[in-house]
Amino acid sequence: MPVMESGNTYWHDRALLEWQVELGVTDAILDAPVDRYRLEQAKPAPTPGQAVRPIAPNSTTAKTEKTDPVAIARATAAGVTDLAELAAAMAAFEYCEIKRGARNFVFADGSPAARVMIVGEAPGREEDRAGKPFVGRAGQLLDRMLGAIGLDRAAADPAQAAYITNVLPWRPPSNRTPERDEIAMMLPFVERHIALADPDMIVLMGNTPCQALLGRAGITRMRGTWETVMGRPALPMFHPAYLLRNPAAKREAWADLLALRATLRKGE
Ligand code: URA
Repeated sequence: MPVMESGNTYWHDRALLEWQVELGVTDAILDAPVDRYRLEQAKPAPTPGQAVRPIAPNSTTAKTEKTDPVAIARATAAGVTDLAELAAAMAAFEYCEIKRGARNFVFADGSPAARVMIVGEAPGREEDRAGKPFVGRAGQLLDRMLGAIGLDRAAADPAQAAYITNVLPWRPPSNRTPERDEIAMMLPFVERHIALADPDMIVLMGNTPCQALLGRAGITRMRGTWETVMGRPALPMFHPAYLLRNPAAKREAWADLLALRATLRKGE
């Protein structure tokens, strides 16, 4: 913050100090104030060799280096060999803007050895706080739904366990629906996540994972019909947050859970 030069009266200096406190200044970092406006003017002009050359529009020789977050995500995801590396690579990925507003990176919960992998949308407020997926009200309902068919994210036995993740590992601002470009840039990581965890089947909780992994949304029509994702059965289901808002849809969710249980039993 620029600091005005102080005058030589007590009241002038005091008023100046109060003004700074009002602006939010809490600490004196240097012994004497620095006038950054003056410093800016005093900067030496760049020498010709250092000059930043603007790229001429429509130039055929000068190329604008454009970042392609999807290509970077793909190359990064392809280079990891286990889940710990994947988590580290995702946490370090800097191209998804929502990361800036999130408190925590939310990777996964449950057992990666589970036969069922559940893919949700993105962390909400509770998940952002805890750094774990599906721990808020929707998560508690998800746990009850899983429990109703004998699954438990905390179970050690892969037959009873569940592995839970989201398309996005950061909470979108105000829990808004993820944008297409955000989904597209995180998709290579989700696919690598599936490949490394290697579940027997996948549950797609709501529209966002359907959009990401099947390329289309419309959960009301899609739920309950088995699809194939990366060579394995995948079941679109209503998101538990939707079920909290629309309890009447629990009937369909129950039918889908029974279908999931039946498919799990077939493979035992
Ligand atoms: N909704 C999701 O899709 N994922 C979570 O982790 C929490 C709520």
